Amino acid sequence: MDTIGILGAGAMGSGIAQVAAAAGHQVVICDNLTIALAKAGKGMQASLKLGVEKGKITDAEAYSLFSRVRFTDHMSEFRDCAIIIEAIVEDIEQKQIAFKSMEAIVDENTILASNTSSLSISAMGAQLKHPERILGVHFFNPAPLMRLVEIIPGLQTRPDVVERGKKLIDSWGKTTVIAKDTPGFIVNRVARPYYGEALRIFDEGIADVATIDWAMRDLCGFRMGPFELMDFIGNDINYAVTEVIFSNFFYDPRYKPSFTQKRLVDAHLFGKKTGRGFYDYREGAVKPEPTRNENLGREIASRILAMLINEAADALYLRVASRDDIDLAMTQGVNYPKGLLAWADEIGIEKIVEKLDSLYVEYLEDRYRCSPLLRKMARENQGFY
Ligand SMILES: NC(=O)c1ccc[n+]([C@@H]2O[C@H](COP(=O)([O-])OP(=O)(O)OC[C@H]3O[C@@H](n4cnc5c(N)ncnc54)[C@H](O)[C@@H]3O)[C@@H](O)[C@H]2O)c1
Repeated sequence: MDTIGILGAGAMGSGIAQVAAAAGHQVVICDNLTIALAKAGKGMQASLKLGVEKGKITDAEAYSLFSRVRFTDHMSEFRDCAIIIEAIVEDIEQKQIAFKSMEAIVDENTILASNTSSLSISAMGAQLKHPERILGVHFFNPAPLMRLVEIIPGLQTRPDVVERGKKLIDSWGKTTVIAKDTPGFIVNRVARPYYGEALRIFDEGIADVATIDWAMRDLCGFRMGPFELMDFIGNDINYAVTEVIFSNFFYDPRYKPSFTQKRLVDAHLFGKKTGRGFYDYREGAVKPEPTRNENLGREIASRILAMLINEAADALYLRVASRDDIDLAMTQGVNYPKGLLAWADEIGIEKIVEKLDSLYVEYLEDRYRCSPLLRKMARENQGFY
């Protein structure tokens, strides 16, 4: 079996290393900090121990899995790897430098992959001698548990590299989807309105956070409401992703961040991890009750859903991914109760267009512009499926 290289032994790198070793590969994981390597080793052992306790793997399997992982601070050990997945800090210059160093070590058939969540894959390949082997492979956190992996070819990537990379990661038991090299790929782009529109509704005073969360959870079937989810992810992280997407889309108002969330970040009210965010998690704090006004709840849900569906439809319209991959990514990547395009058919495309148009007429903001694809489909009475 191929040897897999992982650069960066942080949260993602060590998780991906575990996935590859679980699939039977020899894995070389490299980090320039020995302390990070030690931490990754301990973390992996703890995660395997938990797997044994839960009866998911045997003691012997855990032992042999761990023995397949080699921890090193020398990139030269990547020499025989068929693919190297980079998971270092999210900085284009550092990633470019790392790829150039790796290219000098490996064979020209070695796939050079990046786990970036927001940077351009094409830009990562720009300085390589063989940019045709650059590939985005975007795992979600925690990598051993999350099934979805977005595969992103750069402009220079050869089709057989995409095929090889996809086949390999499929063989690890993951579900792969192909996404165009555009900001946020599929999931981080299509999910933006879940947060953005909820914040807008809150900012306008239409409803409080508990009521918006209740509407999306109890009336729509999402596992967490948008505010609970932002607090869970961390407002610092969620805000940073929104800001990156907004600037990468040349400041398209559709992705505009919210002052409300910015102020929470300014105040270090990051959410669960700091004890306060949109909600108060400190001991003795009482969780606010939602209004449970069904009409209001339906109004909130239809507005947020229309914006999510619009984003998914536009991603399809602009060929970011196929219909099936967009729906698969949202259900498997972020556990949406239904694929957004299938949901659109259920609600009726015409109804969604009406909702978006009414918001546009009310606000006269570009943020509410309806995707040309939805408008055309409504006119021609078509469905996504
Ligand atoms: N954390 C997430 O939820 C998540 C999800 C998907 C993708 N990503 C992406 O994965 C990548 C890694 O994220 P993370 O959360 O694991 O980061 P992290 O900070 O936990 O780990 C990064 C590791 O890379 C090491 N490192 C930095 N520069 C290096 C270099 N030049 N050579 C070798 N090692 C180097 C650091 O010592 C650190 O151990 C980023 O590109 C991030 O955007 C993160």
